[in-house]
Amino acid sequence: MNSTNKAAPTIAVIFGGTGDLTKRKLIPAFYNLFLEGRMPEQFAVIGLGRTDTDDARYQKHLREGLNEFSRSGAPADDTWKTFRSSIYYLQSNINDPSSYEELAEKIKVLEEGWGGRANRLFYLSVAPNFIEPITVNLAKVGIASDVSHDRIVVEKPFGHDLETARELNQLLTRTFQESQIYRIDHYLGKETVQNILALRFANALFEPLWNRNYIEYVQITVAEEVGVEDRGGYYEGSGALRDMIQNHLLQLLCMVAMEPPVTFEAEEIRNRKVDVLQAIRRYSREEVGKYAVRGQYGPGWLKGKQVPGYREEPDVDPNSGTETYAALKFYLDNWRWQGVPFYLRTGKRMQEKSSSITIQFQPVPHLTFPATMSENILPNRLVINIQPQMDIRLRFMAKKTGLEMALTPAEMVFDFNGGTTKSQSPEAYETLLLDAMQGDATLFMRSDQVEVAWEVITPILATWGSRQSLEFPNYAAGMWGPENAEALIARDGHTWTVTMSH
Ligand code: BG6
Repeated sequence: MNSTNKAAPTIAVIFGGTGDLTKRKLIPAFYNLFLEGRMPEQFAVIGLGRTDTDDARYQKHLREGLNEFSRSGAPADDTWKTFRSSIYYLQSNINDPSSYEELAEKIKVLEEGWGGRANRLFYLSVAPNFIEPITVNLAKVGIASDVSHDRIVVEKPFGHDLETARELNQLLTRTFQESQIYRIDHYLGKETVQNILALRFANALFEPLWNRNYIEYVQITVAEEVGVEDRGGYYEGSGALRDMIQNHLLQLLCMVAMEPPVTFEAEEIRNRKVDVLQAIRRYSREEVGKYAVRGQYGPGWLKGKQVPGYREEPDVDPNSGTETYAALKFYLDNWRWQGVPFYLRTGKRMQEKSSSITIQFQPVPHLTFPATMSENILPNRLVINIQPQMDIRLRFMAKKTGLEMALTPAEMVFDFNGGTTKSQSPEAYETLLLDAMQGDATLFMRSDQVEVAWEVITPILATWGSRQSLEFPNYAAGMWGPENAEALIARDGHTWTVTMSH
């Protein structure tokens, strides 16, 4: 959501500096911001980790990450040389106060060199149990206590359930003001997701129809081709509901269902999103079976390659009851959406990576055309393709070219990448890091948002947690999920939209 301003001088301190996220996402994001001229003149990245290494070796390790993961490809020697001179490494132990003294000293030296106090961004890319020692020690050395300059960015998982999320919020707010805390949901940084606000609130066309009178149902799909990869240890304690629904999919739902904000300000936008979460009808434990379906992938074939089932993945219990797929049906109890089903689904090892939002409009109220002309008639449908395909497609009916009057569905397409290459579109982390550096929290999660989102899924978590599914695995890798998920939507006379890449 950032403006064109550059951020003030900034020191980004990454806890988890030798981790995967730093190499794959954070450094490529900083580097691409640097290429775009969006980094402040004076900036430094200090990576913290347990590994015994030095600045030069750390920089080399990060360059390898850029070669592999940066959207702009391998860095040119000269730009890399300039960029790398801002990267430092500090071997540290999260539990040891002396590591924080060293960090404070490093920051002091940098700031003295720059001639003034910088903004400090503390990025916590660590397992949840490290958040406490980090915040306690930061408070002790007092390097993160200036409300207008110091910010703390927290990666998910944000709690394991409602109770632990509340504890985490309390823990963070003991040391920081809410305005300093930036809880990341990287889906909100995606171009296509931010564009939902533009589509809805910068056009007169859609908003008058955006309600129960004209919309029959909404679908949100986040399908992944990848399996659990090497994250079995984490995923076993998580599952699709915690890993994807509680955060990413519910945030997408908020973007689609929120009331028009009065201003484009962080608090206003976040208030409207919380309203949506509050309006989601809570299931009773008895209703969970009717509205929620879980799945786990078994062995199968994906793109011509044989792949193992979830229970055969590294660090996964051979009898695991963890769901790798979830499909849910929600209702929102408010004036705009009463009676409109919102179908959400997400899964790993599905046939294709594809995330999209479908807005299905009502059929026409009266059919003017005789059956012979209108056998192909379909209701209007707006599909927002989030990734990897990035476009918006509006289906409407048109006359088939020819001498007869016959109807056929047609599509209007807005292609995000039209005229540009994919690599020109910023990555979610670029947007989010720039926002955090500029102090714009619009795309970050406020404590109440996180807690209400946990509240929404609590009955499902409780029901699934108390009874292991006897059917697992219930979909083969490479399929679109379990049969029950088809039944969930088919009961209402609908089907899941499948947008295969074009
Ligand atoms: C993460 C989840 O938050 O999002 C992962 O922990 C998931 O399990 C990932 O694979 C998906 O993100 P993206 O941007 O690839 O859709």
